Amino acid sequence: MMNPAVMERVIHSPLVRVLRGARVDPVPLWLMRQAGRYLPEYQQVRAEARDFLDLCYRPELAFEVSLQPVRRYGLDAAIVFADILLVADALGQRVEYQAGEGPVLEPIRTLGDVKRLAAAGVHDRLAPVYETVRRLRASLPLETAVLGFAGAPWTVAAYMVEGRGNRDFATPRRWAHEDAPAFGQLIGLLVDVTAEYLGAQIDAGADAVQLFDSWAGVLPSPAYEQWCIAPVTAIVERVHLSHPGIPVIGFSRTASPMLAQFARESGVDVLSLDTAVPTAWAARELAPETPLQGNLDPYALVTGGAALRTEVERIIGAWRGRPHVFNLGHGIVPETPPEHIAELIALVRSASAR
Ligand code: CP3
Repeated sequence: MMNPAVMERVIHSPLVRVLRGARVDPVPLWLMRQAGRYLPEYQQVRAEARDFLDLCYRPELAFEVSLQPVRRYGLDAAIVFADILLVADALGQRVEYQAGEGPVLEPIRTLGDVKRLAAAGVHDRLAPVYETVRRLRASLPLETAVLGFAGAPWTVAAYMVEGRGNRDFATPRRWAHEDAPAFGQLIGLLVDVTAEYLGAQIDAGADAVQLFDSWAGVLPSPAYEQWCIAPVTAIVERVHLSHPGIPVIGFSRTASPMLAQFARESGVDVLSLDTAVPTAWAARELAPETPLQGNLDPYALVTGGAALRTEVERIIGAWRGRPHVFNLGHGIVPETPPEHIAELIALVRSASAR
């Protein structure tokens, strides 16, 4: 039996209907990183916070910045304002966000470091995120979906072990080869905490959740199966068991040739596709009932105009007839002109209607 609260949302939110497998016209949309530095009103609230973590952990501020893009543009969803590395912070790792640097963490490099992480108080530390979700669900109409999210274990572990972001993530890749059991302990811990974290966001009112595996593409295929597909599968299984009917969106970035396997094995309900996934390949090779999201180049959005129109029409045309949530292939970049989002929404609505 479907829970009546879930049923009600299915009726009201076009986005949730698509995430659950319906074809909806016009195609609903939200944008990865829709809250953030490209919006002047974000900069204003950001200046009130002591630092980025303080912004994430203060529900009154996080609620406000989550709402800003929805208020400005009428997007079909609000995504809770947080970061994938809050889980590392909540586990007791030292995490800082330095201006112009991105996240800097005290690296986890040994089994001893993994054992010192403290799973015990993690949900107390993350409670402000649940409070932000609760405020969003309480204040938005049911037509607007509320999305929760978390980083997938590989991507979160990659930052935890490397200590910062970079293109290679050499340290976690070497550690996974050299001492798979120790690295596996870290991944196992992240599977447990992430499944509970997503469950708690759903309890607080999230209509769907997304797992971001932004660095899935750096791994060789056996390691991708072991450190990306298997942990995501375990999380999805647990979320489906604890919260039946709530869609899980999987974003396994730059994993292209492995995506069909990811789609078959992981159990994710929706595939969020990065910019490099060939649009027509996705239409042809991924099961037609599986909803697709994403794929638009964030730099087409920076450019706007004819380039943006061509790309929007191309993606909507290629995926016409299947459940489709319009989105980017990666997050909005800070140099995006805010007026291009309004332009994008108009394009999506008119291209869908044709
Ligand atoms: O989508 C949204 O609007 C919700 C908020 C959100 C943030 N981060 C806020 C943020 C989400 C969904 C994320 C996910 C995230 N965080 C990912 C996965 C998606 C992706 O982009 O690949 C990753 C890898 C991170 C880790 C992270 N956080 C990095 C690498 C950085 C620095 C680089 C950057 O883009 O700024 C952050 C900081 C961060 N997270 C900012 C925001 C708005 C900028 C911080 C600031 O305001 O100074």
